Amino acid sequence: MKGLILAGGTGSRLRPITHTGPKQLIPVANKPVLEYAVEDLRAAGITDVGVVLGHKGREAIQSFLGDGSAYGVDVTYIVQGNPLGLAHAAGCAREFVGDDDFVMYLGDNLLNRGVGELVEHFESGDYAAAIALQHVDDPGAFGIAEVDEAGDVRRLVEKPDDPPSDLALIGIYVFSPAVFDAIEELEPSWRGELEITDAIQSLLDDGLAISSHVVEGWWKDTGKPGDVLEANRLVLEDLDPADDGTVEDGAETTGRIDMHEGAVVESGAVVRGPVSLGAGVAVEEGAYVGPYTSVGAGSTVASTHVENSVIIGDADIDASGRIVDSLVGSGATITSADEVLPDGQRLVVGENSDIKL
Ligand code: DAU
Repeated sequence: MKGLILAGGTGSRLRPITHTGPKQLIPVANKPVLEYAVEDLRAAGITDVGVVLGHKGREAIQSFLGDGSAYGVDVTYIVQGNPLGLAHAAGCAREFVGDDDFVMYLGDNLLNRGVGELVEHFESGDYAAAIALQHVDDPGAFGIAEVDEAGDVRRLVEKPDDPPSDLALIGIYVFSPAVFDAIEELEPSWRGELEITDAIQSLLDDGLAISSHVVEGWWKDTGKPGDVLEANRLVLEDLDPADDGTVEDGAETTGRIDMHEGAVVESGAVVRGPVSLGAGVAVEEGAYVGPYTSVGAGSTVASTHVENSVIIGDADIDASGRIVDSLVGSGATITSADEVLPDGQRLVVGENSDIKL
């Protein structure tokens, strides 16, 4: 069994954060989303991993993963170029996959329970594919499966106007190499992409068996800013915290605080977990960092109340106000101006921004 992580795409729904970096490297609890996918594959015993890259963010992903050895896997890069769809991306990996079965993992998805169960389902019978499903509130935003009483998949549709069910295809799939012939026959969908959902439908139409399985535990597609915050909340909830930083005398800390090397909570600062503080983060006197916040490496928070937010890294925040439910890009500066503004600004701040509140 091989692994294939799709890390192309444009990240348009996460702009401006993704203007300069790929969405798969956005950190959740101070770890890039992509790293969780690599860990899940490795935990399922899959170490031969292809990573599909677009034009955008290609170097950043390669420099992060390297040859994979730092993460216990062997990485082969496959360049897709323009994002012509998930099935197109998979099709680019035909040579890499060869005659093996493979797990395809969407590089912007996060899963609580990994891929092991789905692989077991696939291997328990003679299946051409195994898909993982979960009930969602907004079925129009996903690939949707219609499943009969016996649990057999009847029909699959991508982002339907009139969803036949609320069972979404989540971002992990297991395929036999039969999928490549199905991909070769595909026509672009209404959104101009070769859809993996249509490729699976074509396997069904050919009478091949598809295993479907409703996954337990949470799953998050981190495609939009609110989803990144929600994923961060879910991961922090279960986090086994590192204890590599310093809490000075006179600082107030409660709850689980994940502190990376060189992080410091200074005297007179307050941190209430669950919180993750990246390497070298300084929470200075008068600052408050509240639950479900991750502050990325190299950032400083001074005289500001930050809560339920993701600060990507190297940010300088000294705003004498409240920042809540916010996603702050790398290298951002947020300082105070004279105006009196309402509490609790909601921000999506792009990389290297300079904001005065
Ligand atoms: O998150 C689950 C959903 O993912 C499924 O329910 C849908 O059926 C499936 O089509 C997909 O929908 P999205 O619209 O969320 O896919 P997105 O364009 O965000 O791409 C998912 C990942 O694949 C992301 O890491 C980028 C990468 N990708 C995407 C495209 C279109 C590529 O590598 N190449 C591509 O051409």
